Amino acid sequence: SKGGFDHFMMKEIYDQPQAIHDTLMRRLDEDGMIHLDDIKLTKEDLDGITKMYIVACGTAYHAGLVGKYAIEKLAKVPVEVDIASEFRYSDPFIDEHTMLIVVSQSGETADTLAAMKLAKAKGARVLAITNVVGSSVAREAHDVFYTWAGPEIAVASTKAYTAQMIAFYMIALDFAYKKGTITLEAYHETIKKIEALAPLVQEILADKDEIEKIAMDMKDAQNAFYLGRGVDYTTAREAALKLKEISYIYTEAFAAGELKHGPIALIDQGTPVLCIVTQEALEEKMISNIKEVKARGAFVIAITRKGNTEVAKVADDVIYIPGADDLLMPVLSVIPTQLISYYVSIARGNDVDKPRNLAKSVTVE
Ligand code: F6R
Repeated sequence: SKGGFDHFMMKEIYDQPQAIHDTLMRRLDEDGMIHLDDIKLTKEDLDGITKMYIVACGTAYHAGLVGKYAIEKLAKVPVEVDIASEFRYSDPFIDEHTMLIVVSQSGETADTLAAMKLAKAKGARVLAITNVVGSSVAREAHDVFYTWAGPEIAVASTKAYTAQMIAFYMIALDFAYKKGTITLEAYHETIKKIEALAPLVQEILADKDEIEKIAMDMKDAQNAFYLGRGVDYTTAREAALKLKEISYIYTEAFAAGELKHGPIALIDQGTPVLCIVTQEALEEKMISNIKEVKARGAFVIAITRKGNTEVAKVADDVIYIPGADDLLMPVLSVIPTQLISYYVSIARGNDVDKPRNLAKSVTVE
């Protein structure tokens, strides 16, 4: 049931605080230690892994991009992220020191499944992050992390994505602890910060009317762009996918630093440019990029942390979200982008839960 909401997508956007809470809290013991029940990797196993691949499709791939940041930063293992349909045919370098992490909400995506079979055959250890217990991907993997997002019905993925990011933070923390690349103190502190995300998501959802008003400023656009740097670029990519798939507005995401190398030619009078500005060290650079696109006529909607006074001086609209550690910001910054996609597509008269040409689970290659 839609739980009193007009659409499954909105219900699922609102399920996110619960999904974050369940995915995390159900795996903490009374001492606040993470227990990943279906992951059997020992310290020896982890010390033997010198390289990881994260492979998935669509939104799950974007969660993987966040996963790379988390695993490299905390567990200190180099990670490559690839799209399943590309990975399969790229003759990937895999041996027994390689770990493959696949991400799939449904657990039935054909290319993702094929990628894991290939990696297994070449001797990789395969870990699956999936939302569906007993799915094909779960059965094929050596180790499984189940996200506890609950069933996702809307074609556009929302709560599965946030739960996948939480999964990566927890896996990265657990691996880091086992490998000894994090202190126990930092481990506990980070868990506390992940725990704090659910009420912060709630806080953003409480601003939905304000976000709807801002979304109306771009509802008639023919094309739109998302910009970000660092892990904000990942949010930009996920946000662009969500907007295009349900609003049918042609939307692209760019790494803000790449603008001058071509994409800025696309900016015209009134083109909506949505800028994600949450990474403290990269903020100044983002502000210069906002000025650049403004000078070419862009209409800038910025998403930034509360307390940031600089962004409002250059952007047309600003959506303020609560702050968290840089690494955790993607869980918060994606929420307004989901709401924008939803409101814009409703305003355009689209069927948000069942966008044209798309299926919830892609079981053909
Ligand atoms: C977009 C979306 C898709 C899926 C992709 C992978 O909103 O939902 O991009 O993320 O088809 O699906 P799963 O995660 O089921 O493998």
